[in-house]
Amino acid sequence: MKNRLNINFLGLELKNPIMTASGCFGYGLEYKDYFDPNELGAAVLKGITMEPRSGNKGTRIAETPSGMLNSVGLENPGIEEFKKIIPSIKKEIDIPLVANINGKILEEYIEIAKEIEKIEEIEMVELNISCPNVKDGGMAFGANPDMARVVTKEVRKVLTKPMIVKLSPNVTNIVEIAKIVEEEGADGIALINTLLGMAIDIRKRKPILGNIMGGLSGPAVKPVALRMIYQVTQAVSIPILGMGGITSTNDAIEFFMVGASGISLGTGMFGNPRLPIEIKKGLEEYCIENNIENISEIVGAAHSDGGVAYRERMNRIAKKS
Ligand SMILES: Cc1cc2nc3c(=O)[nH]c(=O)nc-3n(C[C@H](O)[C@H](O)[C@H](O)COP(=O)(O)O)c2cc1C
Repeated sequence: MKNRLNINFLGLELKNPIMTASGCFGYGLEYKDYFDPNELGAAVLKGITMEPRSGNKGTRIAETPSGMLNSVGLENPGIEEFKKIIPSIKKEIDIPLVANINGKILEEYIEIAKEIEKIEEIEMVELNISCPNVKDGGMAFGANPDMARVVTKEVRKVLTKPMIVKLSPNVTNIVEIAKIVEEEGADGIALINTLLGMAIDIRKRKPILGNIMGGLSGPAVKPVALRMIYQVTQAVSIPILGMGGITSTNDAIEFFMVGASGISLGTGMFGNPRLPIEIKKGLEEYCIENNIENISEIVGAAHSDGGVAYRERMNRIAKKS
């Protein structure tokens, strides 16, 4: 059967536009009992920092209507351990691996980017400037235009691999920050990370999460994600990796139609670990039924011009590089 889902994303040829969302797929092998990870377009791995982190104390997850709050706090084994495990993961997963990199301060972002640059198994980088669950760094970078500019610019200087900058939805003007990271050399933008929220245990009269606040994800955030991708794709010329509450083929199509070129599946995989396979099949059927030669034809279709201007701008950039 002809592949109607293959895309070129930031210069990489992907079998399909379906990726995992960082933090929801471990380091690639955790879902092996449910599906073959090689069925994905690419795997975005759990966020990594220079030093190992044990994450936040106390309760880290709370269920909410149509979603969940998490305050994991970037628990991860640190870059040295990451370097050791990646070659064996790559032996089992022959798709592009995407490292999600994080830092407390600018220097740490630069340092980790340099380390990742040397790991040949990592083909793309997601620069996370939007984690709401760490005390220092994280969201502070993504919520402040000047800091977003500096971190993107400095990391770009040391990183030649394709770089997606993952933005925080916890801002008033997402378009301003998206334009800044594009200006400073981002090859793509990931939207959205989680929305800052909280939940209360009324018997204890205390916040449920040990960290008090956490990041809201799942279907509850989908309308916010769609709105932000729609706004950003009217203003930039680089591709968007869309995420936030995707749990079905219909959801995925909505993301493409507002302007996402690829999609990441996160919270939806916790309830349905075979979600990527179901969406892949659903998208294939949708393309056949609607005479769509390639899924990229519908990127931005919900814009007033059907996405023509944005797709042309992206093509011009792709040709230049
Ligand atoms: C448990 C959990 C851990 C996460 N860890 C990370 C992370 O390490 N790095 C990151 O950039 N995003 C992280 N995220 C955010 C997701 O990648 C995604 O942006 C967000 O959850 C919205 O997508 P979803 O609604 O499909 O989950 C995490 C989300 C969850 C639920």
